Amino acid sequence: MVEKLSFGEPFIESRFLQEEYGFTTPGHCNLINLDTEKSITVEGSFSLPPLTAMRTCGAKIDVPGKALLICNAGTLDLNDLQTLDCLRKIWKSNWELTHLEKHRGVPYYKSTKITIGNISMNFCLVSEPDCPSGIHREHDGKIRELHVQLVGEGAVDLMRSDDPSSMFASLPLTAGCTHLPTWDQNGEYPWHRFRSKSRCIFLGVEIR
Ligand SMILES: [Fe+2]
Repeated sequence: MVEKLSFGEPFIESRFLQEEYGFTTPGHCNLINLDTEKSITVEGSFSLPPLTAMRTCGAKIDVPGKALLICNAGTLDLNDLQTLDCLRKIWKSNWELTHLEKHRGVPYYKSTKITIGNISMNFCLVSEPDCPSGIHREHDGKIRELHVQLVGEGAVDLMRSDDPSSMFASLPLTAGCTHLPTWDQNGEYPWHRFRSKSRCIFLGVEIR
């Protein structure tokens, strides 16, 4: 099954794939394996493990579980101010979404969130470099949280406490990549945050 998704439009085209075999990815795409158990086979030989991502270029893929294919994120130029303004008008800032004082002026802008079964996803623009999200370790329920970098560079920082100076590790994110799981065997997280290194867009994924 292949389903076109509209949550990134008009900027980002995406398709959800489930139990789809022999599908040829169009042009240059980001392929994200959203399954927690099953690997995707690429060109009959390369294996893309669960909860990882890669770039493909006209590759034949077999998806026994669930996957997201993003087709044009690489063409978005965040140094083009017209593009940036357009994104900031259509996607909602954290302040617009929550009206929490801590979100006032924070340059995080989010697309609509889509939920398919146990998976929720949205795109997030960080319109300034070196800008961290809030430090947290609780989420909205028990989820497996993943960030997939699509444009620009970022990182997920891990901390001993909610004090930024207690950072003990950083997982770098370059465009096309995701990070290793940050939850433990009990589903607990260390204190963590996303941090933009450049203007960037990432896909936030929550799996229940
Ligand atoms: Fe988180």
